[in-house]
Amino acid sequence: MTVTYDQSVTDFPATPERERGPSLLGRLTAEDIRPCRTIVSAGLLHPDNLTLLRELSPAKRLLVISAGMRKPQLLRYLDAQCDRGHLDGYYAVPEHLASPDAYPFPDVVDSLARAARSAGLARRDAFLIHDCHPAAAAALAAAALFRRHTPAVRVVTDLACLRPALSGGPVRLRGAVGVTPRQSTVAIDLDGIAATPPPVAPPRADPPGRPTAPPVVREQASRRTIDYPVELVRDVWGLREEGSRDVLAPWLPERARVFAVVDAYSRQAVDDVTRSLRTRWEHREISGFGVRPVTVTAGTKSLAAARDLITRFDSAGLGPHDRILAVGGGTLLDLVGTAALVYRGATPYMRVPTTLVGFIDAGIGLKVGVDTAGGKNLFGGYHPPLACLVDTAFLDTLPDAEIRCGLAEAIKIAAVVDGELFDLIERSFTDLLDHADTLDARRILALSVAGMLRELAANPFEDTLRRLPDFGHEYGHLLESHSPLRPRHGEAVSVGMAVSTRIAVATGRLDPGEYRRLVTLLRRVGLPVHDPCCTPARLAGWLPDICAHKGGSPHLVICTSMGTGDFIDSVDELSPAVFTDVGRALAEDSR
Ligand SMILES: NC(=O)c1ccc[n+]([C@@H]2O[C@H](COP(=O)([O-])OP(=O)(O)OC[C@H]3O[C@@H](n4cnc5c(N)ncnc54)[C@H](O)[C@@H]3O)[C@@H](O)[C@H]2O)c1
Repeated sequence: MTVTYDQSVTDFPATPERERGPSLLGRLTAEDIRPCRTIVSAGLLHPDNLTLLRELSPAKRLLVISAGMRKPQLLRYLDAQCDRGHLDGYYAVPEHLASPDAYPFPDVVDSLARAARSAGLARRDAFLIHDCHPAAAAALAAAALFRRHTPAVRVVTDLACLRPALSGGPVRLRGAVGVTPRQSTVAIDLDGIAATPPPVAPPRADPPGRPTAPPVVREQASRRTIDYPVELVRDVWGLREEGSRDVLAPWLPERARVFAVVDAYSRQAVDDVTRSLRTRWEHREISGFGVRPVTVTAGTKSLAAARDLITRFDSAGLGPHDRILAVGGGTLLDLVGTAALVYRGATPYMRVPTTLVGFIDAGIGLKVGVDTAGGKNLFGGYHPPLACLVDTAFLDTLPDAEIRCGLAEAIKIAAVVDGELFDLIERSFTDLLDHADTLDARRILALSVAGMLRELAANPFEDTLRRLPDFGHEYGHLLESHSPLRPRHGEAVSVGMAVSTRIAVATGRLDPGEYRRLVTLLRRVGLPVHDPCCTPARLAGWLPDICAHKGGSPHLVICTSMGTGDFIDSVDELSPAVFTDVGRALAEDSR
């Protein structure tokens, strides 16, 4: 996995020539490998047979979706594994969720996500899907999307389920929805298959036989290369400057239809997109277009909104040759990315971010997601865009509060990976707040994108949950959901950075002077460093939530000096005294 970074971008002139084409801010290249395992075993549900347990590893908690005659056998097997300490627990969903043929998308997936959340499933825990065809498709989709991917093992003990389980490809649901899991495992229980009754006789619920032979394992994988650029462009809609280079055209296949979903922060923003696409249509460059304005509110990133977009894509008959265009801030990009991810099993799309957070974070990565079950981004996945086109002219209308939020994300990446960028932000952040198109403002943008892309390229699908770009987000996400002040994403991340950095001081990992430097910068930028939720009890009480999202350990990102990040990997380091210190220090520093 590599990321290429065009160094000239940091040195480009403050005012680029009009003829100058797009400048490459960075490019993300990664291999997307999706393993697919099939295991055939006799006595799969015999308590002494650890084959299934191994396939579920490292999961400690399970969401069980099972229906049919052999469910009691499965539950006895799981009870035995809990008694032996191999599992911490499982939750078997009620029958109606294991046979959800009548439920449309996304209701059943949402219900399963809620069940998984209340069952305390952490990342790296798993769904166990057993004998519940046709509900299995919804369960597999829910697993693929819960916390952006939760492993699922599908146990087949019935001949009727065998063919659909082995058919491969995306999991298809009604309503043009398709999901390709990041990993799939099918475990075939030979005892069950052998005991499958003829269609008329009542099925026998035979006790499982003892395992007599090792399981047969078949491994396959699908592979594709992901490769997309983040380009700095001028005049993305080709409306402002006579004779300027058309930067969108290379991304629109001839005769494609284009469906733009646009952040309706102003009428002008929507009109610009419409005019640009209409002109292309009149010139027969594209064969049709649609523009869907979306007013961004606190509830915009929802499953219902994603379903609404999918229905519109479907009504427009969009196919892989057509293009979805996401134009807006992080909220809109996440929403459209999620809809594109599940529309017909992933449909190509482009991003045109319109906020600073979009330029340096939400627009350039692979992650997409919407909120559900009371949690931020609990439903989503990884769906790289074809390209991300960054046009700094959008900053002209962006309110100061949103620029500050973008600066929070720039400070985040600087604090944990790039000390030079941190110095630069300290010196020149006012250029961005003043909307001044200076070399320093552009260098802040370019270095922030480069730092973020480097981190993403090393871990594009979050195979490791020790992620430096999560700095400030562990507590930030919780504050975003729970604080009575309803902070913006960047404001919540700012408080989250202050919390984590103070934790670093209280655990002896950071010099107090460096903490003060960070807090001073955040406050100079106009970002908050405290929130009413930052009481010692609340901060300590959120640890299980943080651990659930990080696979069972906090992996709390801290900086050990400005520009160098590290992790707190064990809750043992986070004593009540640490949180007492954090609560007191933040309250003082916010005065
Ligand atoms: N997927 C990711 O990797 C990722 C990374 C960071 C943030 N996010 C998500 O992004 C969201 C926050 O995004 P954001 O900070 O960009 O805010 P936002 O998208 O919520 O936009 C903030 C406000 O600015 C308005 N706006 C957008 N562009 C404008 C412009 N050019 N001029 C005037 N107003 C404009 C919007 O309509 C909205 O009212 C959060 O939901 C967060 O979870 C996702």
